[in-house]
Amino acid sequence: MKKPIAIAILSILLLAVSCSQSKEDAAVVSPPVVYASLQEMLPFKFGESVNPNRLRNNTVYSGIAAKECNSITPENAMKFNSLHPAENSYTWTDADYIVNFAQTNGAKRIHGHTLVWFQALPDWVKNNTGDAQVFENIMKTHIQTVVAHFKGKVTSWDVVNEAFNDDGSLRDNIWKQKLGDDYIARAFQYAYEADPNALLFYNDYGQEYAPAKRTAIANMVANLKSRGIRIDGIGLQFHLILSQSETNISNAINWAASTGLLVHISELDISLNKDKAQNFSPTQDLLEQQAAKYGYVVKTYNTAVPKAQKFGITTWNVGDADSWIPSYQGAPDAPLPFDVNYNRKPAYYAIIDAVK
Ligand code: G3I
Repeated sequence: MKKPIAIAILSILLLAVSCSQSKEDAAVVSPPVVYASLQEMLPFKFGESVNPNRLRNNTVYSGIAAKECNSITPENAMKFNSLHPAENSYTWTDADYIVNFAQTNGAKRIHGHTLVWFQALPDWVKNNTGDAQVFENIMKTHIQTVVAHFKGKVTSWDVVNEAFNDDGSLRDNIWKQKLGDDYIARAFQYAYEADPNALLFYNDYGQEYAPAKRTAIANMVANLKSRGIRIDGIGLQFHLILSQSETNISNAINWAASTGLLVHISELDISLNKDKAQNFSPTQDLLEQQAAKYGYVVKTYNTAVPKAQKFGITTWNVGDADSWIPSYQGAPDAPLPFDVNYNRKPAYYAIIDAVK
């Protein structure tokens, strides 16, 4: 055999061997990722807010909630108007159903939402002409009764929700009008007295784009602490739009971590239909951008928040068919990690890939 031909044959053989070796090496180094479930793959709790009727009537929905998450927030069933529709009557059926679902599907943590909010109030509160004493009694009795009912079952509460404006001023809502600026402190104190073992959160939106709101919340936390009033955590709702900047997102997460409290990303969704187009349907490109943003949120949370402060990340409901956004904005959207048929979207895989 001539020398150049022998060399060529040898080179081809060597190349074939090295290719098959690198394939084997690659197989050894990176086994295929099995995306078992969010609760199994994340190093912190993954939660979903849920709706009791969907849990009852849609087995795909309840199956996803059972499988994917280990923390549950009732989306509406523990709000004032749901639990306490008339002054002397409470309706526990829906909230109890969710609690039972969470307990019997893997002992999921239950996060209560929410005790004191200016929305979701029944008419008997909204239209009440009573004075400060009457309203003190309404707030106190509501908190005591609700927290006592779920004592030992609900791990944590959003005690006060959305009390500040974006400019950092205290929202001029019915509670402030009737009870004065210090109602927040008393709400936390009543919740603590009703269940000293519950973790108590302040929950709000907009910390990613409203630095003045962050400052107001931090001042409120410092004030409560200086007075010996218990507060355990901060909820960053994170109802995000796709164009929300990474800097804003990381500023909010870093700020929450700097309070030293537990940090809950409590209502995560990422809206895609910024123009509110009536014929909106998500393109693959939009879904990939959404996945990248979900990944950024999860990666930043995982790296910036110390382990002891990680309360977890909760999405605001399960799939795109369940989101509050389409009815709120009057146009379709696709903000969650599961699509309308509960198939996993690129965002789902990005959440898991972000912690690898
Ligand atoms: O249950 C009634 C139903 O009987 C009735 O036929 C129907 C007609 O409008 O209304 C139904 O109630 C609606 C309820 O959602 C259940 O779907 C209320 O009108 C509607 O106001 C309510 O909206 C909820 C909203 O909070 C106000 O409570 C959304 O689902 C819920 O996603 C949203 O969640 C809030 C968080 O609590 C706080 N952070 C912001 C977040 C989004 O707004």
